[in-house]
Amino acid sequence: MKDLSQKHIVLGLSGGIACYKAAELCRLLTKSGASVQVVMSEAATQFITPVTMQALSGREVFVSQWDDRQFNNMAHINLTRQASAILIAPASADFMAKLIHGRADDLLSLMCLARPLESTPLLLAPAMNREMWSHPATQRNVQQLKEDGAVVLGVAQGDQACGETGDGRMLEPLDIFSELCDFFEPQVLKSRRVLINAGPTFEPIDPVRGLTNLSSGKMGFSLAQAAKAAGAQVTLISGPVHLSPPRGVRLIPVQTAQEMHDQVLLEVEQADVFIATAAVADWRVKNYSTAKLKKGEDRKPPHLEFEENPDILSAVAHGDRARRGALFCVGFAAESHDLLQHASEKRIRKGVPLMVGNLGPLTFGRDDNELLLIDEHGVKTLERNSKEKLAALLITDVAQRLERFLEGKKS
Ligand code: C5P
Repeated sequence: MKDLSQKHIVLGLSGGIACYKAAELCRLLTKSGASVQVVMSEAATQFITPVTMQALSGREVFVSQWDDRQFNNMAHINLTRQASAILIAPASADFMAKLIHGRADDLLSLMCLARPLESTPLLLAPAMNREMWSHPATQRNVQQLKEDGAVVLGVAQGDQACGETGDGRMLEPLDIFSELCDFFEPQVLKSRRVLINAGPTFEPIDPVRGLTNLSSGKMGFSLAQAAKAAGAQVTLISGPVHLSPPRGVRLIPVQTAQEMHDQVLLEVEQADVFIATAAVADWRVKNYSTAKLKKGEDRKPPHLEFEENPDILSAVAHGDRARRGALFCVGFAAESHDLLQHASEKRIRKGVPLMVGNLGPLTFGRDDNELLLIDEHGVKTLERNSKEKLAALLITDVAQRLERFLEGKKS
């Protein structure tokens, strides 16, 4: 879980059945160390009580602009002045309509209008019936809110409390929480396009069997999440893994090394950075059997022949886009010993500016890792840490290198 211990969040609830999810969201925020001040509209109190939100946030809840518990009777000013952000979840259609007009007839809307625009960001998690969400008036309002500087999070798709199905459900609490965490990350890769490959490949022997390896895909998926949090548009091409793609990351699932190669070469044309974390099989079965191999009378094992798979990283690093200086490539080297030496040699062989070395047995399937960053000047160590933390550090490092790389290209 991300650490928000330095953050003070004003959690606003407007009226809607999704208010019940705000309780869980409040818990996630407090668990992450954030201090949370809940402000509710009158309508919100019809769906969940201030008592519940007070117990979960550990602070008095505010509902009315006439509440005289504040020394100067100005809750709408006082509550936001220390806030790292105001997060409205749920944001009802009516509440968003109110905001775009700068209306301020209750504490919640008054507080949004009175917030310092420069220092107190406003995030909204809309929640409503699908017809209300797709109505041109709502879509216009969403657009206007964005133009006015608010961050309008997406909505989820699925069954709605009204019995209908479609777009408009509020995002799940964990998704809102991670969007908020991403919002606080420095946008070091803003608008950059990052392509990552991840996981193992699966090389079929027959329709029911195949060869694969122990790569879990965790490092690549963590990097995709970190790059997205840093503001990048991320495409993730992954072999078979048991992981869900991070929200907002485009996933292209593949099976074989050849499929991964073909997809990478297609997608890389639109990328600024390529990070190759995938554990690509070096060989595939040449005499693939279209029928399941059976044990014969003689019980002899089948004879498998192999042919080499393409080297994806090498192909990309020696390809047009990289040669033109339009693409920054990063490779990963998983070794069993002499990491620095092998990874350094591999960096040169593959033709990439940065090779990230790690010890295979100490990373495959694990949640933590230790990395060596090897470039033409030498080596830097990222000490053992969770893959999430390492991914964030590596993305920050890659963003700096990308800037220098693009600068160098200009001069
Ligand atoms: O040669 P080796 O597999 O050790 O190199 C590791 C790096 O090369 C990784 O970045 C991996 O994703 C990439 N690779 C590749 N295609 C292959 C084999 C490895 O892109 N066929």
